[in-house]
Amino acid sequence: MQHESQTCPADDQRRTLIHSVGCLAAAAVSSGLGSAAIGKVSFKPYDSSLLVNEFGDPIRSKDLAIAEPYVFNYPFQGTPAFLIRLASPIVSKTLRTEQGQSYQSLAGVGPNQSVVAFSAICAHKMMYPTPNISFIGLRKGVGREPSAVIHCCGDDSRYDPAQGAQVIAGPAPQPLACVVLQHDPKTDHLRAVGTLGGEMFKAFFEKYQFKLQLDNGPKSKHLCDSTTVCKELKRYSRQLQGCPA
Ligand code: FES
Repeated sequence: MQHESQTCPADDQRRTLIHSVGCLAAAAVSSGLGSAAIGKVSFKPYDSSLLVNEFGDPIRSKDLAIAEPYVFNYPFQGTPAFLIRLASPIVSKTLRTEQGQSYQSLAGVGPNQSVVAFSAICAHKMMYPTPNISFIGLRKGVGREPSAVIHCCGDDSRYDPAQGAQVIAGPAPQPLACVVLQHDPKTDHLRAVGTLGGEMFKAFFEKYQFKLQLDNGPKSKHLCDSTTVCKELKRYSRQLQGCPA
């Protein structure tokens, strides 16, 4: 069933950082993380959506290639997010939005606590992966950079996926918003259940309304269904614009 976000712009206020420490704790427990590792983290719940491949089969975290960026749409059908598995466990980090709101990013989920997800909408001028091309992606870090870097070629903003996608260089004023993942340790399946941090969906829909309509039709502002397709960025976008390190 599709749910249209009829109040998408006002949606942010309507759903306001709700918190469900209990709900998040449940996600943490199912991910194998102790609730103490989560602390008093708040997140904004959206409709739960199971990550599946193009055949409708659930994605298993162990099948994700390390440091290979995957893309799925969440929480809306026109808002892309990165799914990333790193080689090492990812811990929570205290971060701050452009408006000065402090929040705890999420630790990784999965057997190695190394799987995370972030909005793929750059926090600077909102470049994002489209079916035709992507100017934002994941590359190996060089020099003093972390082992993997989310890099937007638009104006050279760089984010560290191992630190809640905090900004490590460039003009982006805040980290990428986290997508809250729930991991089922029995099946190894992944489910997106909300967002955390400085999401930009209202401004995104205002800026790209016409282009999103062309690319996706009227569904862009619909909330995701009970499943959302996840695939490698290199197959989500026909062309990847690599950024020089
Ligand atoms: S849009 Fe990404 S750095 Fe400017």
